[in-house]
Parts: sequence; structure tokens; C-alpha cells
Amino acid sequence: MTRKKLIAGNWKMNKTSSDAVSLARELVLSLGTQADVDVVICPPFTALEAVAGAIDGSLIKLGAQNMHFEPSGAFTGEISAPMLRALFATHVILGHSERRTLFGEGDELVNRKVLAALKHQLRPILCVGESLAEREAGQTLKIVQTQTERALEGVSREMAASVVVAYEPVWAIGTGKVATAEQAQEVHGFIRGLLTKLQGEAVAQRIRVLYGGSMKPANAAELLTQKDIDGGLIGGASLEARSFVELVRAAAAAS
Ligand code: 13P
Repeated sequence: MTRKKLIAGNWKMNKTSSDAVSLARELVLSLGTQADVDVVICPPFTALEAVAGAIDGSLIKLGAQNMHFEPSGAFTGEISAPMLRALFATHVILGHSERRTLFGEGDELVNRKVLAALKHQLRPILCVGESLAEREAGQTLKIVQTQTERALEGVSREMAASVVVAYEPVWAIGTGKVATAEQAQEVHGFIRGLLTKLQGEAVAQRIRVLYGGSMKPANAAELLTQKDIDGGLIGGASLEARSFVELVRAAAAAS
């Protein structure tokens, strides 16, 4: 089965609302009618509403970078799934390694967020990946297995097809050290096998598994032509229109 490729931009803590709108407008001009690749941009919370306006009427979709699992309540500083839905967000990044390591998010919390996102019709982009020490200790597949299994606990087969998994080796994030296509495909193939065990063949074949970690126009083609790499979750190279557009084009060419 051929899965439609997906390129998602994680803008992290970058861009004021007006800078975000400028970038979103540039992307609409270049990619607004791109139909053969799904394109998602994930600005910071403060720019979501303005960016939603800028991409309105285009095929570019909106994602958030995190959310709380409760729909409302006394959770100072947090943002809920219904709030994101009200801004026309369709995706939400969950369990990013920066959330895990810098903000203490564990697998159980990530699982609650995944379930809440699905309940509110948001597609989770679930991030998993090993640190350098874990890779060197030969624990990569074990870590990825634990993170994936725990995050997807309680997710039904009907809902699982809406999930996007992003394999992001922590040592490749923002370091310029990209995983080789072979290293990435090994883990992506493993994740596909795991999803098959957890959710059955038909659903596992529909779930997109993205690669993230120093993906750039120069290394994208090789990664995106691997059998189980269905797109990219892009940090640094998503902050400028030119490189992000090139990545989307590379995904189209690899489709
Ligand atoms: P970089 O593309 O900057 O390495 O970031 C990847 C990432 O963390 C995307 O979520």
C-alpha cells in the first residue's frame, strides 16, 4: 500500500505571531495547492490563530506542539484539545524529546495526551526515539518499543489509523548529525512491525511513520525513498520557506 507522504514543520519556540504569519503566507504561495503530499505546520501557541487565518483556503494544515490531556480546568499555563480544535488545528505533536527531557514528560503522561487528542479528533504526531547513550548501549529498539507501546495503550484500531508516529533519534535533533537512511529504515521497519502486532496489518500499513532529526533538502531524498519512511518532522529547516518547500518537493518526488 502507498501511504501519502507527510511533511510537518515543528517551529518550536520560534517566531512571533507576525513573523509566523509571514512564513505561513510564503508557504501558501509555494505550497498552498500541493495535493500529493500532506503538509502540516506547527507554530507556537501564540501564533496558531493568526497562522490559521493565513493558511485558510489552502491545503496546508495546522498543528500544535503540545497540549494538556484535560479539556478544561485549573491547569495554569496549559492548553487543551478543544482550544486547539477551536483554532482549526488538526494535528498535535506529543511526546517530543524536548518535552520528555526538559519538561519531565513520561510515557504515561504522553499516553493520556494521545488518548485525549484522539477523543477530540486531533491527530497526534507521537514522537519516539533514543538518546545517544541508549543507541551506544544497543538499546535503540527496546526504547522505541517501550515508548510506542506505552503511548498507544488503550488506542483502538479505528483510532490508531489517525496516529502519526515520528521517529526522532535524540542525538540527531538540531545537531546536524542525521541518521543514515539505513539506520533510520531499520527503526522505521521495526516500528511498522510493532504497529502490526499492536493494531493489525491493515491499520499498521496506514499509519505514517515520519523521520525527524536534522532532515534537510540535501539528505531528504535518500531518507524519503526508504520503504517505511513516510515523511519528515522538520525543525530547523522548517523555519525558512525555501528549505521547507524543498523538503515538500523532495517528498513529492519520492512518492
Ligand atoms: P531539527 O530538524 O532541527 O533537527 O529538529 C527535529 C525536530 O526535533 C522536529 O521535531
